[in-house]
Amino acid sequence: MPGTGFQYTLIPLASPSPRSDPEEKYRRPSLLRRARTWIIISAVAAFLFLSGRWTYLSLSANASSTSTLSPSSAASASPSLDVLTSLAPAPHFRDALRKDVKYITSWPSAGWTNDVMTMFNLIYLGVISERVPILPAFTPTHVLQDGEADHVPFGQVFDLDRMQREMSQTILEWHQVKDFAHRPEVDELGCWNVWQVSQADEKFPRKSTAPLNYLLDLSYTLAPDWVKIVPWSSSEAVNDRHTSFWALARLGFPETRNSLNLEPALPSPLHNATLEPDDHLMCLDYLYYVSAHRGDEFDWDYSPMWRFAGRYARFTPEITKLAQIYVNRAVGLPDDAPTPPYISVHIRRNDFRGWCAEDVRIDECLAPVEAYARRIEQVKSELRQKGLEVEHVVVTSDEKDKDWWADIFSRGYVSIDHSDTFKLYGVWYPVFIDAAIQGNGAGFVGTDRSTMSRLAARRVEYWHKGPFKLVKWGHLGADNEE
Ligand SMILES: *[C@@H]1O[C@H](CO)[C@@H](O)[C@H](O)[C@H]1NC(C)=O
Repeated sequence: MPGTGFQYTLIPLASPSPRSDPEEKYRRPSLLRRARTWIIISAVAAFLFLSGRWTYLSLSANASSTSTLSPSSAASASPSLDVLTSLAPAPHFRDALRKDVKYITSWPSAGWTNDVMTMFNLIYLGVISERVPILPAFTPTHVLQDGEADHVPFGQVFDLDRMQREMSQTILEWHQVKDFAHRPEVDELGCWNVWQVSQADEKFPRKSTAPLNYLLDLSYTLAPDWVKIVPWSSSEAVNDRHTSFWALARLGFPETRNSLNLEPALPSPLHNATLEPDDHLMCLDYLYYVSAHRGDEFDWDYSPMWRFAGRYARFTPEITKLAQIYVNRAVGLPDDAPTPPYISVHIRRNDFRGWCAEDVRIDECLAPVEAYARRIEQVKSELRQKGLEVEHVVVTSDEKDKDWWADIFSRGYVSIDHSDTFKLYGVWYPVFIDAAIQGNGAGFVGTDRSTMSRLAARRVEYWHKGPFKLVKWGHLGADNEE
């Protein structure tokens, strides 16, 4: 579908050489330390990759760096300790889990924005099933080809400490539970195969590289088909892959669980184990397509995933600060100046070309810059009515065409210069910084049917009470209504 994560151009993995650091004059030690760590990790990563030993050692390198360097991860460890044994993180995850606490986990399997939404769904499912969510790290799919980028813990991007406090919900990450970095041991685990009952194309559980990175050897059991929102008896079932939050939550309660006639489990890949779905640590293959009432719910203001989980996921202070510095540079201010209010814009073009109908010309299918300009003026005027005069328009886009950008700049809009971002902070940071820039606009203009735009719109709406517009596309004049 068009709503997959924001795509970045593949950047070859290089070993960056030490260089003068534009952050230096502002003496932000944690950023500096992190930049250096990224360089070291990248060098180690390049070696491991070249020596063919990448797969789970990359995760180890990353986890050890974050446990010492990320203040948010370190801080989030304290409330989390209550729900783990004194052995955590343990070589076998079960030794870290308390007998009197139930847990829930799932895996990433898409572009970054969609994986973020998947994590929000997992957290919300934890809330309604009264289970502690254990979040896997983000795995690279779009950012770089798999195996060439680091695995990044959720808490390195989002302020988990604040999120747990504001939600009154404990949230764990896998590196807090299982010590796969230093004492890797294989663990078998029985999981629910939700993917296979929710769509018609793939007759197997959703694929993810994450479980084997944690040395988790999963045996999958088909979930009952009543978890699907649009029942298979309906003619629309094939076009809708969503399952229901509450139907999935029921699988974690004994009265439902004990009444099911389970299908035989699939053997696990490492130990050939066949296991029923675990009740202590409930595990589901994939939770992107989950909603309360109908599909693509984050388009709607009632979205429970957003209201009870996603809205609390603020970017870490480090990423927020970086976003401000990059905006300052774009509008010609010193890094440490206060960041002026701006309208953030996300124009997604590259891979959306593939979604255009064959009989529609690409330049008529994708919305013209003029359509965005019109919406930017509308957002400006709504902000003016609120008493806020906003001068700056910051455009983020995956478009590479120079003429297209010339049109953007001729209107007085600015863009973010990411030419150094990869070298300084690692391959994930252009997308993290862009997401923070988009979400912290005073108002927002995005691209319809892009999940990155939709999430940014919700952030601007909830965090800054800002107006937003999503520009429609698909045929000439698609956005001309209203
Ligand atoms: C896996 O286990 C099943 C029985 O549970 C057995 O029939 C089969 O031969 C095993 N396969 C392998 C590759 O060991």
